[in-house]
Order: sequence, then structure tokens, then C-alpha cells
Amino acid sequence: MKGIILAGGAGTRLFPVTKVISKQILPLYDKPMIYYPLSALMLAGIREILLISTPRDIDLFKNLFSDGEWLGMRFEYAVQESPRGLADAFIVGRQFVGNGACALVLGDNVFYGRGFGAVLKKAASSVERYGGGMIFAYYVKDPSGFGVVEFDSAGRVLSIEEKPLVPKSRYIVPGLYFYDNAVLDIAKNVAVSVRGEIEITSVNNAYLEAGRLSVELLGRGMAWLDTGTHDGLLEAANFISTIQKRQGLYVACIEEIAYRNNWISVDQLLRLAAAHKTAYGDYLNFIAGEEAGDHFL
Ligand code: DAU
Repeated sequence: MKGIILAGGAGTRLFPVTKVISKQILPLYDKPMIYYPLSALMLAGIREILLISTPRDIDLFKNLFSDGEWLGMRFEYAVQESPRGLADAFIVGRQFVGNGACALVLGDNVFYGRGFGAVLKKAASSVERYGGGMIFAYYVKDPSGFGVVEFDSAGRVLSIEEKPLVPKSRYIVPGLYFYDNAVLDIAKNVAVSVRGEIEITSVNNAYLEAGRLSVELLGRGMAWLDTGTHDGLLEAANFISTIQKRQGLYVACIEEIAYRNNWISVDQLLRLAAAHKTAYGDYLNFIAGEEAGDHFL
């Protein structure tokens, strides 16, 4: 399976911080925000990534990840000329996706929780094997700014609405989606919404109407962090810092994930560690020197 990270948009809700720089490159505690959604794709076992951003910001990401070889991965890049909507990822990314299945993650979505890696691997293998689409539902206090899932009393999905004035539940759809190859044609045919975008919610509804959408609940032990406001960013940074300091294990350390996935060798990890004269580098050294079974993740 291939993966797309959508990291464009104007970032207007975070002005002036994002006036001259991409939101998804801003630090979230000790690493660029994009590391977090990238780590979700990596945990799903996805090694080939298309990163989509704006004409202004695409070079930042190229400088950050280059061809991805240092992570044992392959990165491609594409420009989205204007923020036409999330479904545009599958129009811009059509050639990259080719004939297979694809996951999409939004470059500002941050997930953390026990067992999340297994959930992701299951989603990827289920869509690859059986086709269709798989998305997630997450309970929040205020669902109105998101895609909202409506369930019947048996837990079956009835509808998904984008930013409804009167939400039909408190379950929202986070920005992480797994689809079979049909998504390419579905996205191409999505009508522009009243807010002028080609919505990912329309793609999800097309799968739902065809009876080909699975919605997995993310339990209350999962954190899906808000990066949409300055307070959300600060709170997310504090959350990451607290976990990392308490456990001494990092959240979204992409070099560690690449190493644990056997995509890079211990020598390569040590070389990467030597390039960081920071606590981050110390951590990479620690992971490289760790005895197998030191901790159970
Ligand atoms: O975060 C989850 C939510 O993301 C979902 O619940 C919604 O269903 C989905 O529509 C989306 O809602 P947002 O209002 O958060 O979308 P926003 O327009 O803020 O875009 C999300 C990210 O994607 C943001 O970092 C900018 C980037 N983006 C957005 C658009 C519309 C692009 O790169 N290109 C685009 O065309």
C-alpha cells in the first residue's frame, strides 16, 4: 500500500505564525508536526509516500525528507496549486497511486495510543485484501468543526456529514483514511461543496452508499490531538513532552520506527544519531544500543 500526506492549505487559522511558513512544519514540542502523521503511515507498514504541499512550501519538505532513503523509504513530492479540498489528494496523486490501494493522512493530524500500530496494520491489510474504504470515528466534546458520523442503535453507520450545524453524534472522522483503488475515480467525480471544496466526506459517503465503507471506533484510550489553534498546539506539545519524559520513549520518532520495521540497519541508525547533537540524537543512540526485549511496545 502507498501513502499520501496532504500538507498544503494556507494555515490562516494560525496567522501570523503561518504567514510565511507551512503549518505542518511547525514544531510540535521537539519535532516538526509532519513527523507525527508520517509516523502513522510508517506504523501501518507504508514505505512509499507522496507528500503534497503548496508551491511555496514544497521545498521545505523536500529538504526535510529528500528521497526518503535515509529511512529506508521512498518519498515523492507533488504541488497542489490551491487548496481545492482534501479529495484533491487523489487527483494530484493519481499517477503515484497507480493501480493499488492508498492511505491518506492529513499533515496536521496527531494520534497517540496503545495498540494504534496494530489498528493501522489491520486497516491497511483489510483494505488491501478485501477492498473498500476504512476510516475511523473518535468521540469528542465538540464535533461541529469536523466530519461527523451518525450511527443507528445497532452501531451501523447511517451518514457522514461535513461540519454540520447540528451534529448527529459526537463521533468525528479524524484525518486518516484507507481506500482501495476505486478512490481515484470517486475523487475525480466528487462535486464541489457549498463551501467550495471537494470534500473527503463526499468520498466517504460514496463508499458508504456502495456498502463498501468500514468505520472503526478509536477508543477512549486514544489521543487525537488538536493542532488547529494556538492553545491546541500548546496542549499537544505539553502532552507529548509529558509522555516522553515519563517513559523515556519518544512519540513519532521516525528513525526509531524505520529501525523497528527493519527498514534501516543499526549502523544507519547510529549514523543518524551522530547527526543530531541533541536529546533526540541521544535517544536514537539509546534505541540502537537497546537489548531486544528491554521493553514491550
Ligand atoms: O482533521 C480532521 C478533519 O479534517 C475531518 O474531520 C474533516 O472531515 C475534514 O474535512 C478536515 O476538516 P478541516 O476543517 O480540519 O480541514 P482543513 O480545511 O483545515 O484541512 C485539513 C488540513 O489539510 C490542513 O492542514 C490543510 C490541509 N489542506 C486542506 C485543503 C482543503 C490541504 O493541504 N489542501 C486542501 O485543499
